[in-house]
Amino acid sequence: MNYEPPAIYGIIGNPVSHSLSPVMHNAAFKALKVNAVYKLFPLEDTQELKLFMEDLKEEDNPIFGLNVTVPYKEDVLAFLDSVDPLADKIGAVNTLVIDHQRKIRGFNTDGPGFISHLAELKCDLKDKRVALLGAGGTARAIISVLCLLPQGPERIALYNRTRCNADILLKDIGQKIAVDRVEVVDEVEDLNVELADILINTTSVGLRNADDILVDPEALHKDMLVYDVIYNPAETELLAQARRKGAQVSNGLGMLFYQGALAFGHWADMELDEKTKKIMRKSLEVASVHGS
Ligand code: ATR
Repeated sequence: MNYEPPAIYGIIGNPVSHSLSPVMHNAAFKALKVNAVYKLFPLEDTQELKLFMEDLKEEDNPIFGLNVTVPYKEDVLAFLDSVDPLADKIGAVNTLVIDHQRKIRGFNTDGPGFISHLAELKCDLKDKRVALLGAGGTARAIISVLCLLPQGPERIALYNRTRCNADILLKDIGQKIAVDRVEVVDEVEDLNVELADILINTTSVGLRNADDILVDPEALHKDMLVYDVIYNPAETELLAQARRKGAQVSNGLGMLFYQGALAFGHWADMELDEKTKKIMRKSLEVASVHGS
């Protein structure tokens, strides 16, 4: 019998146990009848990351593609042979492709994934006023792509609990991307949510059901889109309040799906067909409701 061991794909980060990526990618491998499996690779610290990345270069390593999640999306840049121009501009990668020569190339599909989901939500960003909460890795990808859009928002107001983290992030993004339309504000009230067209939460506030919301619920209104990158719980308190006010609301499951579909496209070096994409999305929706 001719038995080929499966190609290995997976996600590196800390933690990774909660990740829905295995569900989505294994569903795609199955649908496409590809002999591959997607695994979790928890890496304790940057020393473990270094060893893992060095091992990735070995000729007999069966790993051909990876996702990278918190906290290594920036650290991993040091180990790449090449970086896609968009990922280079954003300054973070979430997808690695390892070719047969064991050359490692990095991509960022978080930013494009977010934009794809907004397009699906029929959200036109041109000249819009965006209010954004948070200054972590997700904010980095979102701010970067919003600033790179040819027909992008008019203004992005950015609030973070620790103001200096927002200043540092903006300065860093500003090295490669024009960020003149972004303004860091001191207080959450200065976001002027009541005048915003889009409010985006990239903080972890809302992950626990007991979490309060960062903005004044009275400022939420029906003529806005409220986007929370959190997808578990499916409806954070922010989204619930916004929905009650008649706003268009969305959680981040669509962004997760699009970044995954784009990552898979890089591994397969082709765009996925609609049927497989539907299977991936369905698997995510089921897993996010029932727990994976
Ligand atoms: P990710 O990569 O998912 O964006 P992260 O890099 O850990 O995650 O970023 C978390 C973000 O949530 C940060 O902006 C953090 O604010 P600080 O810079 O002040 O730490 C924000 N955040 C986390 N807990 C928060 C809380 N209780 N209130 C307000 N902001 C919070």
